[in-house]
Amino acid sequence: MKAPKFPKGSVPDHVAVVMDGNGRWAKKRGLPRTAGHEAGEAALFDMVEGALEVGVKELSAYAFSTENWKRSPDEVKFLMGFNREVIRRRRDQMNEMGVRIRWVGKEKRLWKSVLDELLEAEELTKKNKKFTLNMCVNYGGRSEIVDATTKIAVDIAKKKIKPDQINEKLFSKYLYNPGMSDVDLFLRSSGEQRTSNFLPWQSVYAEMIFMDVLWPDVTRKTLWDAIAIYGERDRRFGKA
Ligand code: IPE
Ligand code: IPE
Ligand code: MG
Repeated sequence: MKAPKFPKGSVPDHVAVVMDGNGRWAKKRGLPRTAGHEAGEAALFDMVEGALEVGVKELSAYAFSTENWKRSPDEVKFLMGFNREVIRRRRDQMNEMGVRIRWVGKEKRLWKSVLDELLEAEELTKKNKKFTLNMCVNYGGRSEIVDATTKIAVDIAKKKIKPDQINEKLFSKYLYNPGMSDVDLFLRSSGEQRTSNFLPWQSVYAEMIFMDVLWPDVTRKTLWDAIAIYGERDRRFGKA
């Protein structure tokens, strides 16, 4: 499929995506939920390719939330192992495509084997400049803000910073990935219209687009259709 030519300035730099609907996709087919997660892998990497083709610079993918620990032990176990395998399987391909992989999330509770795999992929791809794929594994927006606040309190106690130095710029340096840019386009599949604790700090001025498609049915075309809608939006940022 040929990538559309979007007018200059109408392509978002940073796209955040809530990859939702795997379970429903599987249920519709009489398959176990895990089959839906497996089918979702291709959707993510097709979207990464489609993003590169049209000049998106950064994609943040919500792979496992801090709330997803509430799922059955079997599903949690599957998702941890699956995330680890996906990173291992895809990292060379991503590296050859010029993609920098970053892990964004909370260390506490995350399986060590998953974290190790993510850190290895970060190391392997750290020189790539063309595109960044933020793999948000064990990510929660509130915990990101609380953890940043804790780190700031520690630095104040150590007299590294003073309370009156705290501003938005300084605060953002304490987030899980301080290099992350603001989200321009926030996408969610599956028809649910909520953000589910994904990137609240970074998304305050994001354009939100909710799509009815279930995640495993998503392709690069889904992203391009969303970018076309995004291009029509008037982003005023509070200006008149
Ligand atoms: C999203 O699909 C994948 C993860 C949350 C890991 P779901 O598993 O939430 O699928 P639905 O929402 O139950 O259909
Ligand atoms: C959000 O989807 C988390 C991920 C996609 C990783 P959920 O399916 O967990 O969110 P809720 O339960 O619908 O809010
Ligand atoms: Mg869901």
